[in-house]
Amino acid sequence: MMLLLPAFLLLVAGGLSRAQERSATHPAGKNPHLDNRQSIRSGMALYRVRCGDCHGLDASGYRGPDLVAVLAGGATDERLFETIRKGVAGTEMPSSDTPDDDLLMIIAYLRNLGTVAPPERPIGNVENGGRLFGSLCTSCHRVAGSGGRLGPDLTRIGAARSRAALVREIRTPSEWVSPAYETVTLVTKDGQRIRGTKKNEDAFSIQIMDVRERIQGYLKSTLQDVIYEKSSLMPAYGSERLNESDLDDLVGYLSTLRGVDVSVR
Ligand code: HEC
Ligand code: HEC
Repeated sequence: MMLLLPAFLLLVAGGLSRAQERSATHPAGKNPHLDNRQSIRSGMALYRVRCGDCHGLDASGYRGPDLVAVLAGGATDERLFETIRKGVAGTEMPSSDTPDDDLLMIIAYLRNLGTVAPPERPIGNVENGGRLFGSLCTSCHRVAGSGGRLGPDLTRIGAARSRAALVREIRTPSEWVSPAYETVTLVTKDGQRIRGTKKNEDAFSIQIMDVRERIQGYLKSTLQDVIYEKSSLMPAYGSERLNESDLDDLVGYLSTLRGVDVSVR
């Protein structure tokens, strides 16, 4: 009897928390729009305006993760609702103050997409991908605390970006440059040029991390010029440097990186 008691308590606690999650007070607990054609169409329109830029028009991911895969992975409607409502702190995923009903229609739209099985995605040789990452990328990128600091920490890049976005970043990094890593070249009064990524700027001063990872601050009055470059500091890895099969392996490796970002932001 004494032994059974804790198990019984666990059961009760488990039942309660599930009941709370599923409670009628959670708007996603009873979504009237599921399987309703009209609502799904409205949800699609809302999705395209509010989410499509980041998650792709077909929700297969762009800057943000592949939502079809997230749904296929078993995300509950309550969790989707909470994520869309609150956003993901510290990432580009914004919070939203849209009425509950709009969010429920978006969920109905996504659920409808999710009923179509996602296409098979070959992962590539993750081990070879890890090796390529070590030789080509760790000079600028950290994973789980080790590596360079010139580029962003990639510890959880696999959760944050779709595979399509990773491919684009590797092949054509200048297509989209993270605003936190804008490339600048400072020209001092004596003609010296210092290249790096911009970390801070106000009317009078600018701070950059130079290509040797040194943080340097300058008063603008001591500079001849500040050149804001459109291109990324990250080199483009075209097919001559990285063939399709290696690219596949590398992206396969990156999509396994789903850890906790330990970088100090
Ligand atoms: C500005 C870009 C942007 C917009 C707009 C945006 N998202 Fe996101 N979203 C992201 C990013 C980036 C992530 C990954 C966050 C992270 O690193 O965990 C994300 C994560 C998510 C997740 C969590 C995925 C998971 O792994 O659990 C869901 C669900 C989601 N977004 C749905 C939406 C919906 C629905 C909308 C529109 C209402 C939307 N997002 C709008 C960028 C965006
Ligand atoms: C010379 C330094 C440098 C090297 C080498 C480098 N990167 Fe980058 N990388 C950057 C910088 C700087 C950024 C941020 C600017 C941007 O978005 O392009 C970046 C951005 C990225 C991003 C986007 C991160 C995000 O949050 O969206 C990915 C993914 C990435 N790099 C992967 C790689 C991979 C894979 C390699 C090796 C094949 C690599 N990088 C090599 C400097 C570098």
